[in-house]
Amino acid sequence: MSLKKIAVLISGGGTNLQAIIDAILEKKINADIKIVISNREDAYGLVRAQKHGIKNMFISSKNLTDEEYSKKLLEIFKQEEIDFVVLAGFLKILSKDLVMQYKNKIINIHPSLIPSFCGRGYYGIKVHEKAIEYGVKVSGATVHFVDETADTGPIIEQKAVDVDDFDSPNFLQQKVLEIEHEILVSSLEKLCNDELVVIGRRVIKRGGKDEKSIDKRL
Ligand code: GRF
Repeated sequence: MSLKKIAVLISGGGTNLQAIIDAILEKKINADIKIVISNREDAYGLVRAQKHGIKNMFISSKNLTDEEYSKKLLEIFKQEEIDFVVLAGFLKILSKDLVMQYKNKIINIHPSLIPSFCGRGYYGIKVHEKAIEYGVKVSGATVHFVDETADTGPIIEQKAVDVDDFDSPNFLQQKVLEIEHEILVSSLEKLCNDELVVIGRRVIKRGGKDEKSIDKRL
């Protein structure tokens, strides 16, 4: 199977991007990162891309609406013949048009067990502050397809971590970040191997026992 061409969008440190780069180097993912795009010029993820000789660019969102920004992204995706897009800590909202043109081809990593602690305004350390404030006993991370609204697309993979009595938001963030790297790589591996089937809100493994029986359960 030929290598899938992927674009990775970032806004920050890029540890999720690094996990993807490392997995590709270890030949775990059937993909080639054609471009890394950041809406933040100071995103360390751009440095990570540079260190690995991966094409990367900062696209400022200054004086641009979300729609205008998405239009720029779309032009680049077409130019680079991108198959899949990974939002790895990307903090801008994509336009409906872009999401529709890349339906079930854009995935996002979120640092909670969706549908908890997600949606507009839930990003970064705030997610973990709210989880601890609420008193949950488990939190975790979610990889999902991106649809028209924030953090609501069909869920591909989730993994939980215990929230211990005296965890600080920062400590919980670090525990969750490790899980993020793990499930983002495994989700991208399945996506690039064409192993994911989306039926309604459910994402199932192609050819698995679920695929045959799913219609009986829906
Ligand atoms: C991660 O916590 C991710 O879940 C969230 O933004 C953070 C990005 O971290 N969307 P990094 O830039 O990949 O280190």
